[in-house]
Amino acid sequence: MKVLVIGNGGREHAIVWKLAQSPKINKLYCTIGNSGIENLAEIVNIKADDLVSLADFVVKEKIDYAFVGPEIPLALGIVDYFNKRNLKIFGPSKKGALLEASKTFSKDFMKKYAIPTADYYSFNDFKSAKDFLDNQWEDNKKVVVKADGLAAGKGVVMCQNRKEAQLAIEQMMLSKVFGDSGSKIVFEEWLEGEEVSVLLFTDGKSFEIMPPAQDHKRIGEKDTGLNTGGMGAYAPAPIATEKLLKEIKENITPKILEGLQKEKIEYKGVLYVGFMIVKNQPYVLEFNCRFGDPETQVILPLLKTDLFDIMEQTIDCKLGDLKVEWFNKSAVTVVIASGGYPEKHINGYQISGLDLVKPEDAIVFHAGTKTENGKIVTSGGRVLAVSAIADDIKSTVDKVYKSVEKIKFEKSYYRKDIAWRVLKNG
Ligand code: AMP
Ligand code: GLY
Repeated sequence: MKVLVIGNGGREHAIVWKLAQSPKINKLYCTIGNSGIENLAEIVNIKADDLVSLADFVVKEKIDYAFVGPEIPLALGIVDYFNKRNLKIFGPSKKGALLEASKTFSKDFMKKYAIPTADYYSFNDFKSAKDFLDNQWEDNKKVVVKADGLAAGKGVVMCQNRKEAQLAIEQMMLSKVFGDSGSKIVFEEWLEGEEVSVLLFTDGKSFEIMPPAQDHKRIGEKDTGLNTGGMGAYAPAPIATEKLLKEIKENITPKILEGLQKEKIEYKGVLYVGFMIVKNQPYVLEFNCRFGDPETQVILPLLKTDLFDIMEQTIDCKLGDLKVEWFNKSAVTVVIASGGYPEKHINGYQISGLDLVKPEDAIVFHAGTKTENGKIVTSGGRVLAVSAIADDIKSTVDKVYKSVEKIKFEKSYYRKDIAWRVLKNG
């Protein structure tokens, strides 16, 4: 079989890495790629949002399956388009991708199907949003303001009071800092708690829950400073207790599937459910219509089953027939970023020490890297994601940092406290 992976970050390196282990695949392709992916897949220079060229390429090379990494092609309707051309592809339909691409759609979906989530109010125009704040919001009440559309993870503003919320809507709706994505907004009740990401494989009828993961979104230690794409993760996250997972499996996920079926939404891919756990109760903060980054780099090393089989059975709507197995281990991922990220950073620094990391100690997933004159150099904010597995979180943390310390480039930065919430509890 031949498989094309669409995307070129750390998440896609992890997907390519896992698919490369399948005995059923003899050739892998990946769009754009990076220095890690190019060792495992043939690089295809077509952008992830160029749906027509991607489909033409799949036909020309007689590729059997496409696997979509990022949200943009999904939101553009790549799955509907490939299906129209009779090409097999792993990912939700355009309507399914709206669960991520429109906060209003996703909140309305949650409300309609009684999925627990924060209270919310959505607005299509600045005046009504402002009137609401002026007349129905207390001065000092916290509120979360969200741009409706995709904003590369930056469309959520946590506001301490009404004044900050007014500024946020001015920037989104009047200054258009997120372009059209901010022409609608959602105000959400601010939930205090601990976050956990639960990702599912689903074919729309059945689902398989992946080990729950906890991302570290802030740049600074102890979760301080600016938000990033994610600086590290661990799985399984103990905050997702047996009891909580039972609630998610038996009450919340069935409601999501019921909603997908009733709304006639085709969904054959990964659904990422971001939860806030408030007083032991799970609330859905967001849906993403794809694997997370760096969650993929921490979850896939724990997957025992062939990812090709999961992809194929999901596309054929037979996921329920497959027994998906996981290693009974813990995994920890540490992201190494360019100094300055998530703000300005410089690319082009040579990376050394990659060859010092032994495969039995850690896997180094590449995100922002490229090969220049035979040397691997930095080419993005998040440069590498180093993942290790061991028997428990504590020993995995010790193990992963030994490998992280071997990798060097100018102005590199990583958080030294990944999994601190688990470690602080002993
Ligand atoms: P979202 O893209 O909707 O998940 O939001 C991004 C991040 O903002 C989440 O991972 C949370 O850290 C935070 N967040 C979003 N909604 C809320 C909320 N209602 N209460 C508290 N934090 C939130
Ligand atoms: N790590 C968060 C995301 O992929 O959306």
